Amino acid sequence: MAKKSIYLDNSATTRVADEVVAAILPYFTENYGNPSSLHEFGRNAKAAIDNARKTIAKTINARDEEIIFTSGGTESDNIAIFGAAKARGAGRIITTKIEHPAVKNTVKELENEGFDVVRLDVDKEGFVNLEQLESAITDTTILVSIIHANNEIGTIQDIEKIGNIVKSKNPNTYFHVDSVQSYTKIPIDVDAAKVDLLSMASHKIHGPKGVGALYVRDGTRLSTLQLGGPQEKNKRAGTENVPGIVGFAKAAEINMADFYKHTEKMTHLRDKLIANIEEKIPDVILNGPKGDKRNPNNVNFSFKYIEGESILLHLDLEGIAVSTGSACSSKNLKPSHVLAAIGLPVDVSHGSIRFTLSRYTTEEEINQVINILPGIIEKLRALSPLNKSN
Ligand SMILES: Cc1ncc(COP(=O)(O)O)c(C=O)c1O
Repeated sequence: MAKKSIYLDNSATTRVADEVVAAILPYFTENYGNPSSLHEFGRNAKAAIDNARKTIAKTINARDEEIIFTSGGTESDNIAIFGAAKARGAGRIITTKIEHPAVKNTVKELENEGFDVVRLDVDKEGFVNLEQLESAITDTTILVSIIHANNEIGTIQDIEKIGNIVKSKNPNTYFHVDSVQSYTKIPIDVDAAKVDLLSMASHKIHGPKGVGALYVRDGTRLSTLQLGGPQEKNKRAGTENVPGIVGFAKAAEINMADFYKHTEKMTHLRDKLIANIEEKIPDVILNGPKGDKRNPNNVNFSFKYIEGESILLHLDLEGIAVSTGSACSSKNLKPSHVLAAIGLPVDVSHGSIRFTLSRYTTEEEINQVINILPGIIEKLRALSPLNKSN
């Protein structure tokens, strides 16, 4: 019998839910009109994206017209950060040392163009230094961009506290939140957190790839990056990905309908995996915090004296899919900037593995990982020249 695979790389991407596939299909073969067309095909497509906009808006306490659809998390981050910076022309941008490359590299480009950039430190669990944030906000600060749940170590920032600090120091500063990993896993209320811009992606929540959304608070000035037609309120030109948008909204609706059931299940399995790794394997470091300030689906450990790549390959041979860092950085062997920012020594950070769960993850799968992993670590350590006992 074929070996059953165990997929624990849900922060890289997720399986598309069956209900989502069913909802999308008619938009390829029946309702395939262009939403800008005036005939019935076009009107049906437009109605579908209007409904999807309503669904997504409701999940974050926004108004329908404040949601624009994009091609995913990277594009949402780019439109938010470049768009806000170019609309304001000059000034200070504040971000953190633990951003995803979609934010990190965008801010770096603006720094090269002359914007004044401040990157906030984080503590050893990955929490942003809020005093440093408060003192960094000046009259010239145009944008604060903060990752909500970190994609590598799962740390959840207190965006309500941050939003209040930002707006009380300088109400003209825009507040952007990258919620690609937290969306539908952690409650988000854009009004309570005083957020102006918020990035979301469909493929992290059991929707299709190549679609995402950006929340843009009414009145926020954004320059457009892509020139073309007037779609998405002139903020994102190009014919909309109607099947993708329908699927994204369906995925969000399913997640929110059973929010507590899904998050409690993931949290239970997450904590079981953490407790068992700490109990059964010596010389390990949990990266990121424990408890309710950790994304419900994230487990990240450093296993001392061995390489993450070797662990990943041995788990892969057993049919278990994990990641050595964030999906985007796992192709280069540079140490993770996130693990460096929490103060992990380079040699230890090379032994790091991220396990990310989804609502489809089962107790049996986690039990299997708990049974297999200690043997793999023991075998690799026995061969490792870095092991102090070798
Ligand atoms: C926090 C965060 N932001 C942005 C992105 C980019 O999203 P996408 O892959 O949809 O472009 C990711 C993807 O891993 C992410 O984890």
